[in-house]
Amino acid sequence: MATHSQLSPTIRFLLPLLILQCITTTLAQAPAPAPAGPTNITKILEKAGQFTTLIRLFGMTQVGNQINTQLNNSNQGMTVFAPTDNAFSGLKAGTLNSLSDQQKVELLQFHVVPNFLSTSQFQTISNPLRTQAGDSASNKFPLNITTSGNQVNVTTGVVDATVANTIYTDGTLAVYQVDKVLLPMSLFGPQSPAPAPEPVKKKKSGSDDETPATDDGSASADASGAVSFGAHLHGLIVGSIEAIAFIGMFYL
Ligand SMILES: *[C@@H]1O[C@H](CO)[C@@H](O)[C@H](O)[C@H]1NC(C)=O
Ligand SMILES: *[C@@H]1O[C@H](CO)[C@@H](O)[C@H](O)[C@H]1NC(C)=O
Ligand SMILES: *[C@@H]1O[C@H](CO)[C@@H](O)[C@H](O)[C@H]1NC(C)=O
Ligand SMILES: *[C@@H]1O[C@H](CO)[C@@H](O)[C@H](O)[C@H]1NC(C)=O
Repeated sequence: MATHSQLSPTIRFLLPLLILQCITTTLAQAPAPAPAGPTNITKILEKAGQFTTLIRLFGMTQVGNQINTQLNNSNQGMTVFAPTDNAFSGLKAGTLNSLSDQQKVELLQFHVVPNFLSTSQFQTISNPLRTQAGDSASNKFPLNITTSGNQVNVTTGVVDATVANTIYTDGTLAVYQVDKVLLPMSLFGPQSPAPAPEPVKKKKSGSDDETPATDDGSASADASGAVSFGAHLHGLIVGSIEAIAFIGMFYL
């Protein structure tokens, strides 16, 4: 078999190359694997582009980490309304700087809903939505969704934003691009403390209906921030001690 013995060296040489090529092609064409480990909101926003301000604020306020942790630990899922860099540059100059650290946390948490919402759920949702910022009463942190056909708007009572795009959805986390920063009533509404820190001592008697109330509002916001941070630390410490005690039970 002359032909056979002539071909076989060629085949012997080519076959490994062919197999190697098959493997590399298959690897290259394989669908992107599910992201290893827990979902990372920062990574999602980085990939989408045009969210550098939001990423920075999520980092500064730790709200990004809260989202990641909560996603990993709850089965409700989450929804994030993500304002673009353009949305942030559309704010009046000094808007972010007028906020205390605690108010920045609230502003960011106001963009996060602690359950997964698909676009079709927007059609039937009951207003106001409760966000991570808490109390959705009408002068606190109400967030309303209005729809008309496929158009979805988010209304805070201060701004009306439009949902422009779904950036990410996996059935647990949904991230929607919005064209405006969602400014909450309690920080930017008519009676909010942030924009106009007016001196209180105009009249000594009567009329302590309005101004003191707003003062209390800002004071308690800061105080509760400190308290909740303390409580969080305490929780961590107690949690760690319990975990050690728990592990100890098995070894003693
Ligand atoms: C999330 O992604 C960002 C950017 O890619 C990275 O810096 C950060 O360490 C990640 N966080 C976690 C918890 O993996
Ligand atoms: C995610 O949850 C798992 C199981 O509850 C836990 O073991 C893991 O440490 C968590 N990871 C993060 C980054 O929180
Ligand atoms: C959404 O907002 C846009 C622009 O503000 C407005 O023209 C439109 O009527 C709103 N749609 C709904 C359903 O609220
Ligand atoms: C939000 O919806 C609630 C309930 O329908 C309504 O009472 C409230 O006025 C709405 N607020 C805004 C700002 O649209």
